[in-house]
Amino acid sequence: MIIGGTSGIGEATARLFKTEGSKVVIGGRNDTRGTKIAKECGGEASFFHVDVVKEAEVEAAVNFTKDKYGKIDCVFNNAGYGGIRGNVDSIPSDGFDKTVAVLYRGVFYGVKHAARVMKEQKSGCIINTGSVAGVSAGYSSLVYSSCKAAVMHLTRMAAIELAEHNVRVNCICPGAIPTPIFQGGVELSDAKLEALKKLFSGAQPLRRSGLPVDIANAALWLASDESSFMTGQSVVVDGGLTLGRRWEEYNDHFGQIRSLLQS
Ligand SMILES: NC(=O)c1ccc[n+]([C@@H]2O[C@H](COP(=O)([O-])OP(=O)(O)OC[C@H]3O[C@@H](n4cnc5c(N)ncnc54)[C@H](OP(=O)(O)O)[C@@H]3O)[C@@H](O)[C@H]2O)c1
Repeated sequence: MIIGGTSGIGEATARLFKTEGSKVVIGGRNDTRGTKIAKECGGEASFFHVDVVKEAEVEAAVNFTKDKYGKIDCVFNNAGYGGIRGNVDSIPSDGFDKTVAVLYRGVFYGVKHAARVMKEQKSGCIINTGSVAGVSAGYSSLVYSSCKAAVMHLTRMAAIELAEHNVRVNCICPGAIPTPIFQGGVELSDAKLEALKKLFSGAQPLRRSGLPVDIANAALWLASDESSFMTGQSVVVDGGLTLGRRWEEYNDHFGQIRSLLQS
């Protein structure tokens, strides 16, 4: 079950999982896109309408998947958007609440209802989408970044609790990945996508743009038995973005300070 599977990273994950032989249920609010992707995935792939802000819809999506296949191997809590922006002293509380509802509470609902089913079946794996913005300050806005940090800790807390039931919980923290999230969820034109990729190719030490499939590959591994001894972890997939700058860049800066002091 991929919640937030109708676009970007989730869509790439749905397509990859399908190629690898998984039976995929795609969740999201955009019925047209979700149905189209499910159709293109072919086979038993299906779409289920879910808004993560509403617990009853998340519960229904998980139940739909369980009823359809008898069990759920993986729930990927990937829904997200840019959220409210602004300085800490000016963020309105309704914007704050709306952002937290999607980026944190929505993930909580996904973990909660996946856990309900997986505890009973004594197996399963939950994957949450965090962000480099949750790892370090300065990569995105305040509320978004705080929610992503909270998702990472939710992952650890749920993992420690669910381990005795043979249920694993991990998190993926993507770096800069060109997707519609940068345009308010609206699909990017080919020209915009290429321009974004070009910009992103210089955003981190690895000199190419990250791609949705890079995150999908990490999700595939976390969902597989190959990662069966791993739980509670946040895997950073960012081309080295969070490593910081090359020492020469700092050295340049300190060199200027030295020159100033010696002059
Ligand atoms: N792209 C990046 O650089 C980047 C970096 C770090 C982390 N992330 C995270 O990666 C995840 C996927 O983002 P993306 O970049 O792939 O963006 P995207 O292309 O805009 O996809 C966002 C997905 O979330 C779903 N979604 C949003 N609000 C929802 C809601 N209330 N209920 C259910 N589904 C909802 C959307 O589906 P519907 O519109 O159909 O509802 C869509 O499938 C997000 O959690 C994002 O924060 C992205």
